[in-house]
This record gives sequence, structure tokens and C-alpha cells, in this order.
Amino acid sequence: MEQTPHGSPDDPNPLRRLSLEQLRRRTSIKWREYPDDVLPLWVAEMDVPLAEPVARAVTEAVAIGDTGYPAGTGYAEALASFASGRWGWDTLAVERTRLVPDVMLGIVEVLKLLTGPGDAVVVNCPVYNPFYLFVEHMDRRVVEAPLDERSRIDLTVLEDAFRRAVRGGRRAAYLLCSPHNPTGTVHTADELAAVAALADRHGVRVVVDEIHAPVVSRSARFVPYLSVPGADRGFSVMSASKAWNLAGLKAALAVAGPAAADDLARMPPEVGHGPSHLGAIAHTAAFRDGGDWLDALLDGLDDNRRLLDELLAKYLPGVRHRPGEGTYLAWLDCRALGLGDDPAAAFLERGRVALHSGPPFGTGGAGHARLNLATSPEVLTEAVRRMAGAL
Ligand SMILES: Cc1ncc(COP(=O)(O)O)c(C=O)c1O
Repeated sequence: MEQTPHGSPDDPNPLRRLSLEQLRRRTSIKWREYPDDVLPLWVAEMDVPLAEPVARAVTEAVAIGDTGYPAGTGYAEALASFASGRWGWDTLAVERTRLVPDVMLGIVEVLKLLTGPGDAVVVNCPVYNPFYLFVEHMDRRVVEAPLDERSRIDLTVLEDAFRRAVRGGRRAAYLLCSPHNPTGTVHTADELAAVAALADRHGVRVVVDEIHAPVVSRSARFVPYLSVPGADRGFSVMSASKAWNLAGLKAALAVAGPAAADDLARMPPEVGHGPSHLGAIAHTAAFRDGGDWLDALLDGLDDNRRLLDELLAKYLPGVRHRPGEGTYLAWLDCRALGLGDDPAAAFLERGRVALHSGPPFGTGGAGHARLNLATSPEVLTEAVRRMAGAL
């Protein structure tokens, strides 16, 4: 495997363009956390080259030394136009957006506008582990509202969590992940409208992490939370960073619904010191000119989702997997394999393949592991073979 380069620079699928040898020259955390004999399919970085329009924009900025502080609303304008073209969402108002350093820090700043120390933030576990880390770091309490057995929002469970969150007259927020990491659930318009009504009824403010929004299968439809009826008091935090692999080029946008504009206006100006100008240039180019590249990626991811199911059926029939329609992450239920609470530890130790451990995703994470599909079919195949070899 290590000796067999699979990179084909002209392949339309960006997931097939780079060889393992090229990828191992990277110095980001995906490639440096583990020794070279480990195949890394854990953190949400993709094994793709930069989209050409993004590379061009960044290269041109570097060539003219355009490396100062960010200015203007170009990023928000590019996102608004992308949102209209791709999702039919025509009411993303540029004046109700703020450039923030990245999605997690944007969420922190929005939560500071809506809650105080000791207040509750409701999450749908199992969920992206930094939701716990960042919320607790800012002295808020996490209240869990587990997804149901089909990995969908359970409104009864959510209502119970809302009641606990606002008990004693406290302020509370609901941090919704849409599409959902790690299950890949794409929430429907009806589900989102029901969530908005429920949150309003209990006085809970909704903050939606929509970082994975562009990464939705051709067979599904992403619905922006702020586009559904009743969501006017909500916030969304959006970014090009997952869909175009730009986590190292920091920038994101906080977007307020029409009835949350006054809240957004209270965000202190120093928040604008965090985002990188080069990041904003890269993200703007991605949303403005990266649509074709994204479409090719989505085709490749659809192929990989199908391939993963075939591979699991062949090599690891004990693993349960309900393919999500969004994100490039697969949530594997490994409880039948007898590998304990943290099957990723066994896959790493005995199979030399790195997945994300399930337990840090909160209640429902034990016995699970998260696999990153954004790689070549060859690496994906080798990874599942190695996992089977670890049993
Ligand atoms: C749901 C979710 N939110 C936020 C992030 C991190 O985004 P950022 O690097 O912009 O903070 C990730 C990264 O994988 C993610 O999956």
C-alpha cells in the first residue's frame, strides 16, 4: 500500500488526485499525530488538493503581499450568493453577518450574547466533542438531548432538555449541529421548523453550526435553519472550511436571523481581530468560484459512502452503519465486535488505522468510532481491511 501511489493528478474526483506519499508530506495534525505506519482517517481534514479557484486567490494575494487585516463584506456576499444558488435561500442579509475567527470561536461569541455563566447549552448527543469542550470552557453547562435510534432529533427528549435548561428562569441556548457530526443526519425543513417552534415556546435561543452545509449528498437537500418559518431569533455559524478543506486558513461567518440583529450588534469589535485576511480571501473564492470543484467532491463522497458499505458488509459484517446524507464522516456502531467502549483504540493498536474514538462524543458514543471518508477509495479499502485484521 505505502509503495503504491494512487494519485492521478487529472482525475475529476479530487479524492483521487493525491498519492499517499504526497499526503504524508503534509504537516497538519491529521498526518503528524500518529507514526507513518498508521493510516489516518480520524480528524476532519480531507485528502484533496486545494480547489483551483482557492489556490489561485491565495497565490495572487501572496504575490502582491496582500497579507494584512481583513476588510469589507466580500465573504458574506459570496456566501449569500452561494446560499441562494444552491439552497434557494434568498434572505441571507449581509448586514446581519459578522466575520469571526472560525466556527467554534464564532459559536462561543454568539453564546456569550445569549447566555451567562452557569446557563445551559443543549446539545444532541452523540455530537462533535468540542461542543462539550468549548461550552464548558466558557463556564456554561451542557444539557444532553440524545438523538433517537435513527439518529434524528427527538422532540420529546428535546423539550425535556429545554425545560431542564431554563429551570429557575435561567437563559438557555440550543447548539444544533446541521448537518450533524458524527451521524451525518441532514435535518428536514419540518424538523427544523418544529425545533424553532419548540425553542420559542420555552424561550431557548437557537445557534446552529452549519459548517458541513455544503457537504450533502446529491440525494438529499440541506435546509438552512434561518430559512424555516419561526427561526427569526436564531443564529447560524457558517464557513467554507470543511467543504473546501480550509481549516488552516481561519475565517467564518456568524449570521443572525432578522429578530436577532440587535443581539449580533452587541458582539464586541475585538472579535473581528481573530479571522485571517488570507482565510477570508480563500473562503470567499471557495463560495464564489468553487462550485464545480465541490460537485466533483460530492460525487466522490457518494461513491465512497457506497464503497464503505460494501467493504463493511464484506470484511466487518458485525459493524452497524447507517450512512448519513451529510458530512464526510461515518459513525460506526462497533458494539457487536467485543472491543469495549473505545473500539478505535483496538483499531489503532492492532490495525494501525486511526479513527476518532466514540466516547468523547458524549452519551451514545461508547462502542462507536468515527471514520473520515474523505480519502481515496484505495485508502478507504485498506483502512477497512486493517480494521478487520485487528479483530
Ligand atoms: C460540526 C463542526 N463544527 C466546527 C468544526 C470546527 O470548525 P472551525 O475549525 O471553523 O472552528 C468542525 C470541524 O470538524 C465540525 O465538524
